[in-house]
Amino acid sequence: MNSLQLFLPCAAGVEDFLADEVHHLTGLTGQDLMTGRGGVVVNASWRDAMRLNLHSRLAQRVLVQLSHTPYRGEADLYEAASNVAWEIWFTTKQTFKIEITAQHSPLKSLNFAALKIKDAVADRFRAKRGERPSVETQWPDARIYAHLTRDHLTLYIDTSGEPLFKRGWRTDKGDAPLKETLAAAMIAASGWDATVPLYDPCCGSGTIPIEAAQIACGIAAGSQRRFGFEKLLPYQAHVWQGLKDEARAMEHAPTAPVFGSDVAHRMVDFAQRNAERAGVARALQLRGGDALQRMPPSEVPGIMLLNPPYGERIAAAGVAGHGRDNFVPGLLAAARTGQPREHREQVQTDDGGDFFLQLSAHWKKNFAGWSAWMLTPDLKLPSRMRLKESRRVPMWNGPIECRLFRFDLVAGSARRDGGEKP
Ligand SMILES: C[S@@+](CC[C@H](N)C(=O)[O-])C[C@H]1O[C@@H](n2cnc3c(N)ncnc32)[C@H](O)[C@@H]1O
Repeated sequence: MNSLQLFLPCAAGVEDFLADEVHHLTGLTGQDLMTGRGGVVVNASWRDAMRLNLHSRLAQRVLVQLSHTPYRGEADLYEAASNVAWEIWFTTKQTFKIEITAQHSPLKSLNFAALKIKDAVADRFRAKRGERPSVETQWPDARIYAHLTRDHLTLYIDTSGEPLFKRGWRTDKGDAPLKETLAAAMIAASGWDATVPLYDPCCGSGTIPIEAAQIACGIAAGSQRRFGFEKLLPYQAHVWQGLKDEARAMEHAPTAPVFGSDVAHRMVDFAQRNAERAGVARALQLRGGDALQRMPPSEVPGIMLLNPPYGERIAAAGVAGHGRDNFVPGLLAAARTGQPREHREQVQTDDGGDFFLQLSAHWKKNFAGWSAWMLTPDLKLPSRMRLKESRRVPMWNGPIECRLFRFDLVAGSARRDGGEKP
């Protein structure tokens, strides 16, 4: 299987970073590596498909494209799915599931469309093998992805199984954890190359610093999990073992220090346990403490990377972790209370102060020479912090449109007109 067409979906805004990552992992370029909307199309081998599953930090899945045909109605979907050699990929003893997505499809019911494709797969097996595989919606052995545009159906077999953001180490998580793939996208967008310190002062369950520490140690993103391809027919255990051994041999001592802290000690405990499972407990220093008080964790300046609390009342200096048992993520809380948007975006400390203004004052005073990258849905964050961003990268946190802002902290000089005195 030397020439498969793979599609690696990713979050909107991450496509170019994913293309760079795929190039770095496979060496592919030009026609063999093309950036599309919401993902990257790659012409590669089966071995590459396994390697990409193991190493990619940014892809949501690795799909093998099996057909791309025009359609007008459900009968065309049945026909297209009947023509795919599913028996190359799985057997009648295994279970399967159809996942369907659509963009501007004129069809009335996606459920009915999925049913037609399922029937076509089952009927083909019955014709070729005398029996049909069963459908299993929760833990199928094989997942078939069908994507409908206005006039085309594309069919894929999935090689990942559980989505790739599930790295297998984050068993403990807080209320508003980032997906690991988004944390990795933030790291990629920041250009952090594991040569300078990285610090997340609102680290929650540790997603950003753990991803960073794995990068600093050369640990493959998928080294702690299993993949869908292990159940597909082209799978060869010895080839996969070879790829895992190769990845293990590339692991090394951290090339840069990574730090995380959070005001909630419960979160720091979660992050610590996650770091242990991710194999980076020694490469990462985690502490409790208020971001408004914590001093730089290293003398050498580096980058701060965080998704700060949003739209919630947060603990102020000196009352770390206080009253957090009933914590509700800000957006959810705001949606429930129906507050107007402007009001929701305020993040106040318990003493009624503006958290972000206090944070920028603390950074300007103590973090000169550092860059801070902050992911937020609050497009007014720079003016709220009275800082001028030097970069803004659009990113989506699930359905929420965000920006990753970069602030270069040079004592007193990064302020806007009218900003507070340094
Ligand atoms: C949006 S969450 C970050 C989630 C994290 N990236 C993860 O993946 O788990 C914001 C975090 O900021 C922490 N936080 C709130 N106020 C803080 C403060 N004053 N100092 C430090 N951390 C704070 C919260 O405890 C929460 O864990």
